[in-house]
Amino acid sequence: MTDFQKKYQDYRSFFEGELKHFCAEMNHQPPVLTESMRYSLLSGGKRVRPVLFFGTLSRFGADYTSETGLALALECIHTYSLIHDDLPAMDNDDFRRGNPSNHRVFGEANAILAGDALLSEAMRLLLKESGRSAAHLRAAQYLADAAGADGMIAGQSADLLFTGTAGGEEELGFIYAHKTGKLITAPIVMAAMLGGGDVQAAENFGQALGSLFQLTDDILDEKGESAKMGKTLGKDAAEEKLTCVKVYGMKRAEVLADQTAAKCHSLLDALGGDEFLSCMIELVRERDN
Ligand code: IPE
Ligand code: IPE
Ligand code: MG
Ligand code: MG
Ligand code: MG
Repeated sequence: MTDFQKKYQDYRSFFEGELKHFCAEMNHQPPVLTESMRYSLLSGGKRVRPVLFFGTLSRFGADYTSETGLALALECIHTYSLIHDDLPAMDNDDFRRGNPSNHRVFGEANAILAGDALLSEAMRLLLKESGRSAAHLRAAQYLADAAGADGMIAGQSADLLFTGTAGGEEELGFIYAHKTGKLITAPIVMAAMLGGGDVQAAENFGQALGSLFQLTDDILDEKGESAKMGKTLGKDAAEEKLTCVKVYGMKRAEVLADQTAAKCHSLLDALGGDEFLSCMIELVRERDN
């Protein structure tokens, strides 16, 4: 195992432990609400966003084990976005994280409510964290913005709007920057805020990494293995989603992903460089899940 893999595993297993504890404490009534929330939170996932948060905190010399609340809020928002993304009214996906999607197990109405509850839990966590320091308040505000109507939701709305249309580069850029970019940028910026790093440089790096993440998600939807990805593939083309493969074709999409990875490396250098984050760029480029 490389140093990078070991660190990723350390951050991830610390986060999984905290998440299990958080889920064990849940006792929302009726029980189906708790069960549906737990189901999606605990059904796997790469935990890329909490790992990026912890890795960037460490880069700036901050103690990541003190920042569980913000990491949980981040993963609650991300998980809720996936539950709603999979609903029949949106992407209509039956599998997520290697398991039947939330609405396939609990029904559509319960899946909507599980998502609503996870977002509300995130807001509760953010309010609690925001009382710790001025930097925590700033970080919590950043995440609330990233989740909202100028953030991930704007990207999801544009994703739906441009499905089945002849959108191009500009529309794709908006979708990427919002639906994926906002929740990938947030952990990096929040960590810079808490650790005293250059917030603008962190944002620039995060935005490029967010684009790379969705470039590879779109590429893998066409040429990945569904057993590894844990979701049904080939659906973007079938549903006429506006993806990089649709706009550029597979060959140019791969080239763009390489160029975006190179841009991530130079923006990471502008942030001061970091071995772990540099390996994260490569992981996002080379991933198969
Ligand atoms: C999937 O995110 C949704 C996108 C933004 C492409 P991830 O690929 O991080 O999903 P999990 O959390 O590992 O399941
Ligand atoms: C989803 O993008 C981004 C979210 C905000 C959830 P996709 O619709 O491409 O994600 P997958 O492929 O279903 O994971
Ligand atoms: Mg979608
Ligand atoms: Mg989807
Ligand atoms: Mg996708």
